[in-house]
Amino acid sequence: MRIQRGHGTTGFVCALALAGCQREARDIGPSLPQTAPNSAADPRIGYYQDNVFQVAQGGRYFSWYGCTACHDESASGSRNLADGRWRYGAEFDQVYASVARRHGALNYAARVPPEQLWQLTAYVRDLSLHTPEKRRRLGVDQVGEPQGRVWAGAVR
Ligand code: HEC
Repeated sequence: MRIQRGHGTTGFVCALALAGCQREARDIGPSLPQTAPNSAADPRIGYYQDNVFQVAQGGRYFSWYGCTACHDESASGSRNLADGRWRYGAEFDQVYASVARRHGALNYAARVPPEQLWQLTAYVRDLSLHTPEKRRRLGVDQVGEPQGRVWAGAVR
């Protein structure tokens, strides 16, 4: 009898432990993109374009990778990324290709991990939807974040 009760308790503890593991389930590893989008209908696109967190991550990398040096609000032509016009196509896979492959020696395709290119793409495609107030706010947030050795402290 005693042994059986012992087993019962062990089973109960295992069940609890498993339930705990379930709550911790999260997407890591294989679900992160390792490749560029294969078309404008790539099923992974929605997860980045429609996700505020992913877009915001793209905003951080946009300033961390120095994109702002050439692509600020006052830039003209294809360097203006907030005007909703895309010289090399507006679809997700096209903008991704522009970021990754249209920057000569900067060669982001080779230097930036695919997941961050997905986030950067979602961010630049989102820019035309931002009101000037929201863009200014994002800019202040990004400048105010620690940026390694060039960081000069919080802004205002
Ligand atoms: C040294 C300046 C410079 C930097 C830094 C830079 N870009 Fe560009 N970018 C350009 C220029 C110039 C073009 C236009 C290239 C062309 O016409 O072939 C361009 C084009 C683009 C386009 C295509 C725009 C369109 O109308 O289709 C996107 C998207 C883009 N850049 C995103 C980025 C992102 C994201 C970063 C940072 C990871 C970045 N750029 C960093 C200069 C820069």
